Amino acid sequence: MLLPAVLAMPLAMSLAFGSTGALESPGSAEVCGRCHRAIHESWKTSTHSQAMESRLFQDVLEMAAADFGPAGRMVCLNCHSPIAAQIGDVGLARKVSWEGVTCDYCHSIRDVSFEGRNPKAILSFGAVKTGPLSDAVSKAHQTAYSAVHTSSALCATCHEYKNSAGFPVLTTYSEWKASRYWKEGKQCQFCHMSKVEGDVVDPRVARSTGAKINLHQMPGSHSLEQLNKAIRAQLNTTREGGQLRVTVDIANETAGHYFPTGSPLRQLVMELRADSAAGQHFAEQRVYARTVADQHGTVLMREHFVFLKAAKLVSDTRLAPGEKRTETFLFQIPKGSQTQVKATFWYYYSPLAKTESQKRVTFLTLNRLAQ
Ligand code: HEC
Ligand code: HEC
Ligand code: HEC
Ligand code: HEC
Ligand code: HEC
Repeated sequence: MLLPAVLAMPLAMSLAFGSTGALESPGSAEVCGRCHRAIHESWKTSTHSQAMESRLFQDVLEMAAADFGPAGRMVCLNCHSPIAAQIGDVGLARKVSWEGVTCDYCHSIRDVSFEGRNPKAILSFGAVKTGPLSDAVSKAHQTAYSAVHTSSALCATCHEYKNSAGFPVLTTYSEWKASRYWKEGKQCQFCHMSKVEGDVVDPRVARSTGAKINLHQMPGSHSLEQLNKAIRAQLNTTREGGQLRVTVDIANETAGHYFPTGSPLRQLVMELRADSAAGQHFAEQRVYARTVADQHGTVLMREHFVFLKAAKLVSDTRLAPGEKRTETFLFQIPKGSQTQVKATFWYYYSPLAKTESQKRVTFLTLNRLAQ
């Protein structure tokens, strides 16, 4: 039944493109971007587009290959270069394999299966592109409406992961599923793919007046705006006899999952400093993170070990969705000694990052002068 339509494609294509012929599948984002210009531009700024190219990832991928062989390396490619994994381009010879989490991967997903150890995408590369529009018409390729594209299930295929030891390494989807956001029907897309006025395709290709497009930038922990929205914090000081009492109220206000979520190497760190006029200096830290270990109890500090060898949860001090916490600090600072109190929050990405900005970002500071 599908065959005649597929055979008709080259003709339709040549009308749109001159003599370029049918779209190659899986195809490069650059080809999609010729028509889906606005979406391509926002995807280019996403970490999805950097998931394979990123220097940090390539460094750790090499370590995975050295320590665990080709099978270990393949585990990483499944999510960081899903097209390479699907078409068996293990040598990364094709350009599209370097595009990370790219257009034609996500838009070839037909469904998601939740049977087995991990959620799994059911794919079909070809002339049909699946998406959220029920009335799309395109001469360049066929389209099919797909409910799974408007659901968190699509994201679960890479943002939920148990390794071969059965240890839940990535739990973003299940954290969300247990939160009020799931009950309210707020999918991942609600916070990570905001809808804006825009052209689904370049107006020179087709008209789309008043259309809304989903921004494909996927702002997460690399977005200062998201980090600042996510955390609400307040700094208070009171006297308690000969001591200065400092409290910091901290809440996971808008993250639809734990803060931090994802890779167990992500951390939120709060540093509290108190510097008195009398020359006393105090500093304390609170770390919000998951600590994971291998089966012998050795704490793991590199992504490839975490993904492949994690077997035990040592501790979890992260903030659940909506959770409020009060941190209390007591300093031996006598009354009358004016004290500068400062709370600094930073988000820590990866211990293996080479540059300071790849390693961490400071996103919030609170100051208070105490008497
Ligand atoms: C020659 C122009 C052109 C090229 C190249 C192109 N598309 Fe499209 N695409 C369109 C048009 C036109 C529509 C329909 C837009 C509408 O109806 O608003 C569309 C619609 C879509 C939709 C929406 C489907 C739905 O039902 O929700 C998706 C997804 C899509 N394209 C993905 C891709 C991908 C992935 C590529 C690259 C492999 C690509 N397109 C290349 C022109 C193009
Ligand atoms: C109610 C809004 C909301 C929902 C729903 C939501 N998120 Fe987030 N997400 C955020 C905010 C805010 C941040 C930034 C703070 C942070 O990094 O935790 C974030 C950060 C992230 C990060 C970055 C973590 C890292 O390690 O860099 C990932 C990945 C992510 N979200 C994936 C998802 C997925 C997958 C879903 C659906 C299962 C989802 N989010 C649902 C608001 C949301
Ligand atoms: C991580 C998976 C993912 C990647 C990568 C991705 N998309 Fe999408 N795309 C989606 C999802 C999910 C939606 C629908 C969101 C919704 O409606 O809630 C969507 C929507 C669309 C639509 C329909 C119009 C709209 O904005 O809703 C088009 C067209 C489209 N994407 C094209 C592209 C192109 C072109 C690229 C590459 C430059 C791309 N997508 C990359 C997941 C992806
Ligand atoms: C094919 C696998 C795959 C799919 C499907 C996928 N992601 Fe991702 N996502 C990744 C990988 C890999 C990264 C990390 C990229 C990096 O930093 O190297 C990532 C990173 C992110 C981030 C972090 C951005 C930041 O600032 O660091 C967010 C948010 C996110 N994804 C949201 C989503 C949402 C929402 C969906 C579903 C619409 C989705 N992802 C589907 C693989 C995927
Ligand atoms: C099930 C999907 C999945 C698998 C398998 C996977 N990753 Fe990732 N990886 C992600 C996601 C999603 C993120 C980032 C967002 C987050 O923390 O949730 C990430 C983040 C990373 C980061 C940090 C990137 C940054 O920008 O800070 C590194 C490094 C990394 N992964 C390396 C690996 C290696 C090496 C392997 C193989 C041993 C691997 N990953 C396997 C999904 C995956």
